[in-house]
Amino acid sequence: MHSKSHNLSPFPSLPHSALETFSSTMASQTQPEAPSKNVGPEYRPTTQKPLATVSTALKHENVHVLPQTPQLIALLTMIRDKNTGRADFIFHSNRIIRLLVEEGLNHLPVLEHTITTPVGRTYAGVKFEGKICGVSIMRAGEAMEQGLRECCRSVRIGKILIQRDEETAKPKLYYDKLPEDIATRWVLLLDPMLATGGSALMAVQVLKDRGVPEDHILFLNLIASPEGAKNFAEQYPKVRVVTAFIDMGLNEKNYIVPGLGDFGDRFYTM
Ligand code: PRP
Ligand code: URA
Repeated sequence: MHSKSHNLSPFPSLPHSALETFSSTMASQTQPEAPSKNVGPEYRPTTQKPLATVSTALKHENVHVLPQTPQLIALLTMIRDKNTGRADFIFHSNRIIRLLVEEGLNHLPVLEHTITTPVGRTYAGVKFEGKICGVSIMRAGEAMEQGLRECCRSVRIGKILIQRDEETAKPKLYYDKLPEDIATRWVLLLDPMLATGGSALMAVQVLKDRGVPEDHILFLNLIASPEGAKNFAEQYPKVRVVTAFIDMGLNEKNYIVPGLGDFGDRFYTM
């Protein structure tokens, strides 16, 4: 582990004071302590910004963590809280999902596109190159479909039903229904929780078996464990992962900690 703060942070946009807090916490490598930073608007002095737990930093090149902004941390605080009811859980999850989709789209290639404005001037812009589709890992991944549709009207969405065994946490594939021409599309794979990584890895294999190149898959995820992110990065280094947060780890039941519990239950049935 380096001791210089500018080498440590995956969040280059953080103010220097935040980096100091972040790096000093991360430097104590012997204790697997959650990293923290002072959270609040940049114009506020550090002493007026509360200290909050932020995402663990990982070195995998294909894993992109959303900037740990006050807004994101507040939204995550809401959905992690066991006392948050279903309506608030859905509302605040949807806001994070929207951030993930918007950031995910930044990872797709664009082409030059120059247009003429109503006042007769040209503007040198860009447009997306190629076709996309979403693929949700049922059930929890379906919760992310609305956020994708809000950004990409009439986007095609495929489904893969994978369920973890409640005892062993091993994934089982039950069903898939994917667009016929999926091999020619960029695929946004949707699942809010990456725990052991078993389900997402299985879903990527289904996509690859259907001819989707690994580097045309983008995995959008709310919370990942370091183990899941590592498994993913090692097995499919060309799949880009966009996540809101890398948590501390897994518990004895392979649930993410501190996590938020069972996403599917909290979104659909609790
Ligand atoms: C959850 C979650 C992921 C998977 C993550 O789904 O939505 O798909 O577990 O765990 P893993 O990384 O260890 O595979 P679950 O199978 O519980 O089904 P659900 O979507 O119906 O809740
Ligand atoms: N699935 C969830 O919904 N939550 C976890 O923590 C792990 C798997």
